[in-house]
Amino acid sequence: MARTSRLPGFYKLTVDERRSLVSEATGADTRDIERALEGGGLDAETADKFVENVIGTYSIPFGVALNVRVNDRDFVVPMVVEEPSVVAAASNAAKMARAGGGFRAEVDPPLMISQIQLTHVPDIDRARAALAEAEAEILARADRAVPGLVARGGGARGIEVRVLGDATERMVVVHVIVDCRDAMGANLINSVAEAVADRLAELTGGRVGLRILSNLCDKRTVRVTCRVPAEALATDDMDGSAVIDGIVNASRFAELDPYRAATHNKGIMNGVDAVVIATGNDWRAVEAGAHAYAARSGHYSPLATWRREGDTLVGRIQLPLALGTVGGTLRVHPAARLSLHILGAPSASELAQVAAAIGLASNLAAVRALATDGIQRGHMALHARSVAVAAGATGDLVERVAQMIVEARDITVEAARRALSVLAAADGAVAVDD
Ligand code: MEV
Repeated sequence: MARTSRLPGFYKLTVDERRSLVSEATGADTRDIERALEGGGLDAETADKFVENVIGTYSIPFGVALNVRVNDRDFVVPMVVEEPSVVAAASNAAKMARAGGGFRAEVDPPLMISQIQLTHVPDIDRARAALAEAEAEILARADRAVPGLVARGGGARGIEVRVLGDATERMVVVHVIVDCRDAMGANLINSVAEAVADRLAELTGGRVGLRILSNLCDKRTVRVTCRVPAEALATDDMDGSAVIDGIVNASRFAELDPYRAATHNKGIMNGVDAVVIATGNDWRAVEAGAHAYAARSGHYSPLATWRREGDTLVGRIQLPLALGTVGGTLRVHPAARLSLHILGAPSASELAQVAAAIGLASNLAAVRALATDGIQRGHMALHARSVAVAAGATGDLVERVAQMIVEARDITVEAARRALSVLAAADGAVAVDD
């Protein structure tokens, strides 16, 4: 666990300085950080053991979100993402949430669904009765397929029987509910499906169809709330109360309109996916589950909503998150292992809480920007730093030049050069690189 995730001025430091600070804040050794992240965290030889036909690896930036407090614990949160602003936005919004005590999170037990499809079932009512009668036997058979999981305290917990299609289709789908403990669970759940399928066919008189997990893991959801005081939301041009109105309005728009809800949820997944990828988890599974969950009522809806309570903005997010902290990619990817170390070796449930909190923070940052200055201004402010560097600024001049061109609303290399000259004249001896 990080002693603190408040590291003011972090963004102004060099990469090496940031590594030292993350090491101090989290206890991860600087040499381990260097070793795990150099060259993108994965050499070609190791990559060759992951997938087929490897000819190299492909790196994405690894940053950390700061200011994150979940259930009174501080977390420095690894985020792997190629999109500018995502890490800064999550950190800024986490700071706003922190002003209201941080994020409160709760999570369901790690229950996954193993689906076994049976077709040509001759008598649906008799099949239901036979399955109900044999539930204990089915669960025991499932447990025998995953002895390691059972030894870790997990295993099969129950079955559900669903009848799909019309009477002519005679299709029954059995869900075996399995507690995966700290694993994401895909392999375990697929093993269970394959282990019990033939017996289910015998019991029902049907034929075995598909045997696979469901990525709509709606028994494994995480819920996070935050309460942000109005003053923490104010911008240069708008007071906090007006910003609350704008954010509630943005929430209503997403609640009423699937076109907007898709973009609203994309902003949430900017944060969630970055944590999922950093920790070596399966982001396609998480995306599939999140969007299926968003559409569960038949109306595609936002995963997070915002309301006013007096002078406080209250945000809530709920989504399914199948994340693991053991097995899978984690065994072999040094950067994924480092991420868990930086997070303080969380359980899978804690990791889900942090990832959902980052999703809520990302959403807050996006809707606040959209309800105030618009999204481009913040993007341009970040872009200003690279423009300042392109104009020749170094050291603390990068920040000063960036600030000047943002204030002038002229984020061009020419404007940055002019700003550098002004600072050179003021400071006496600043070298301008032309
Ligand atoms: C961009 O990556 C994400 C946003 O479009 C999200 C949103 O509109 O809420 C800014």
